[in-house]
Amino acid sequence: MYELIGVTKQYRRGRTRVDALAGVDLAIGQGDRLVIQGPTGGGKSTLLQMLGGLDRPTSGSVLLDGTDLAKLSERRLTAVRGQNIGFVFQSFNLIPTLTALENVETALVPLGVKTADRRDRAAEALDSVGLVERLGHLPSELSGGQQQRVAIARALVKRPKVLLADEPTGNLDESMRDEIVDLLEGLCEEHGLTFVMVTHDSAVARRAPRLATIRKGRITVKENRPVG
Ligand SMILES: Nc1ncnc2c1ncn2[C@@H]1O[C@H](COP(=O)(O)OP(=O)(O)OP(=O)(O)O)[C@@H](O)[C@H]1O
Ligand SMILES: [Mg+2]
Repeated sequence: MYELIGVTKQYRRGRTRVDALAGVDLAIGQGDRLVIQGPTGGGKSTLLQMLGGLDRPTSGSVLLDGTDLAKLSERRLTAVRGQNIGFVFQSFNLIPTLTALENVETALVPLGVKTADRRDRAAEALDSVGLVERLGHLPSELSGGQQQRVAIARALVKRPKVLLADEPTGNLDESMRDEIVDLLEGLCEEHGLTFVMVTHDSAVARRAPRLATIRKGRITVKENRPVG
C-alpha cells in the first residue's frame, strides 16, 4: 500500500534548518495497523502529513499503491487525498456553525456525491460511530468524545482506503480515550482500512501489532506479532 523511500523533510525558518524527517524508509501493507510514538518534535506529525499528501517531502518517494505522492500535481494530489485518505486530528476541526450531519456531509461535496446521497451516507456514518441521535446537534452541543466521533464519521464517510490519526485522543479525558481508540480500531478492521495512528498513550502502543518510534526524524519499527 505505502512504500516510503529515503523520505526527508526540512523546514527552514530564517537561518535555522530543521530536519523534521532525516531519511525514512517504511513499508505499510494494505489493512495494516501501525502505531507511531516518539518524543515531541520528533517528526510524527510531519510523517503523517507525508503519508496523507498534505505536504511534500524535501527528497525521497512516498508511494501509495505505486503512485509517488511527492511527484503529483497539486490537483491530482488533492484528488488522491479526497478519495483515498481520511484524517482524524487531536483538535476535532469541526465547522462550528454546521450540525453533525452537515459536518460529515461536507467531506462528500468535493467527490461530487448528490445531495440526497450525501445525506444518507452521512447519517449512516454517524450511525456507525454511535451518534444517530445527534445528527442535528452543533459541535458546541456535543461532548469532546462525541465531537471526535463526528470527526471520525467525516473521515470515513468517503470510504477511504487509509485512515491517518494524529493523537486522536489527545484532547480527551482518560475514560473517553479507550472508547475512541476501540472505535477507530473496530471501524478500520471492519472496512479493511490501513490505519496509522500517532499516540502518546502507552497502553495503546503496547498492544499495537506494529510500533514505530520516531526520534529526531529517524524511524525504528518493532513488530509485535504474537509468538507461535
Ligand atoms: N511548518 C513548520 N515550519 C518549521 N518547522 C516545523 C514546521 N512543522 C514542524 N516543524 C519542526 O519539525 C520538527 C518535527 O515536528 P513534528 O510536528 O513532526 O513533531 P511531532 O513528533 O509531531 O511532535 P509532537 O509530539 O509535539 O506533536 C519539530 O522540530 C518542529 O519544530
Ligand atoms: Mg505532532
